[in-house]
Formats: sequence, C-alpha cells, structure tokens
Amino acid sequence: MLKMCVPLRSNLLVFLFLVCFCFPSTITSLDIAKVLSQNPSFTTFTNYLTQTQLVGQINNRQTVTVLAVDNAAMSPISGKSMDFITKVLSIHVILDYYDVKKLQHLDGKFAQVTTLYQSSGQDGFLNITHKENGVVSFASASASEATLISSVASEPYNLSVIQVSSLIIPGNSPTHSNSRSPSISSAPDRSPTASPKEYTRGE
Ligand SMILES: *[C@@H]1O[C@H](CO)[C@@H](O)[C@H](O)[C@H]1NC(C)=O
Ligand SMILES: *[C@@H]1O[C@H](CO)[C@@H](O)[C@H](O)[C@H]1NC(C)=O
Repeated sequence: MLKMCVPLRSNLLVFLFLVCFCFPSTITSLDIAKVLSQNPSFTTFTNYLTQTQLVGQINNRQTVTVLAVDNAAMSPISGKSMDFITKVLSIHVILDYYDVKKLQHLDGKFAQVTTLYQSSGQDGFLNITHKENGVVSFASASASEATLISSVASEPYNLSVIQVSSLIIPGNSPTHSNSRSPSISSAPDRSPTASPKEYTRGE
C-alpha cells in the first residue's frame, strides 16, 4: 500500500508541475482588449490601453475592474503625452472586483479603492460614493469625478468592465486648455444681460 502511495503522490506533483509550467496561459485567460473590442463605443479607450501597454498589466491581474469611457468622452487626453495618458488610464484600473451590483450595495455607501496608478507608489486612490440620488461616483484626489453609467462586461470575480461618464483626470493636469475658460469672478453679477448658455449638457 505504502509503496503505491509514494509514486502516486510524486506523479501527481510532476503532473501539477507540468500543468503549471507548460500551460500558464490556462490560468490567466481574460483579455481586456478582447472584452472591450466587442463594443465599438470603446475603440479609442482600447487603443490607448494598447499603446500604453496597460493591456498587459491589466491581463496580468487576477482581480480587476476597468472604468471605461466611450469614444466621445476620450477627447480630454487626445494629443497628450503618453506619460500623461498612462497616468490617467492607470487611475481607471481598480485592483479589486466591482460590478454594478456591488457598487450599488457598498457598505456605508462608500469605498476607497486602490488603482493601478496607486500601486506605482503615487496618490491614486479612488473614492467611490453611492449618493442619495442613486448616482455612483468615482473621484480622484482632484475635483474631477465620473459617474457610473452601466456594466460593459463582468467575469465574476476576476474582471469587471464598467462604463463611466467621463475620464477621471488627476489634479494640476494640463487638460484645461479651453481658451475661453469661464472665469468665476468673485464680483456680484452686475450684468443681468449675460445669459449662461454654455452650460447645456445633453442627458
Ligand atoms: C480568478 O480569480 C481567482 C481568485 O483570485 C483565481 O484563482 C483565478 O485564477 C482567476 N482566474 C482568471 C482567469 O484569472
Ligand atoms: C476620499 O475619502 C477620504 C476618506 O474619507 C477623504 O479623506 C478624501 O478627502 C476623499 N477624497 C476625495 C477626492 O473625495
């Protein structure tokens, strides 16, 4: 009996070793680029993930949530340096699994999560807040905040992809390139003729 057991056990070890050594790809099979490519709204986001090589970093993680924005919402970083784009997109990668259901049932309606940017030693936390009006927001250390739109894909509990309203741009970023920045002067409104038409946001 004992004689049988020993070779059986070592055979099993050899087998496990071979499985792990020869077929590592069977363990991490989730490909963020592939998941996103199923939706044409995210081609710009996906292209940037590829260019910044964040695709590989995301695929190497076992538990990750990606906050994706659609093509129309990518303009704030178009034409920016790769360093800056990498920084911004790294903030959109949460190192934990959050699908829509989990986001809507946060303990205390709040969570502070670690992002890929944070993992490089930077100040890259995101605050997730489930507000009274039902909106779920994602805020970085700056004032820039995005809100949950919908689920794009989920593979519990490894990969979740969620669409958010806008890019989360960290503070002191060079993105405020609007030449016509609305100067918020402290003066009381002395010009009743000025109509603030520019604040129209289609819902
Ligand atoms: C999913 O996560 C579990 C637990 O972290 C891990 O054991 C498994 O290998 C992961 N699967 C993939 C496809 O990454
Ligand atoms: C995030 O939450 C922490 C802890 O509550 C708070 O100190 C910090 O000011 C928050 N940051 C943002 C940007 O909301």
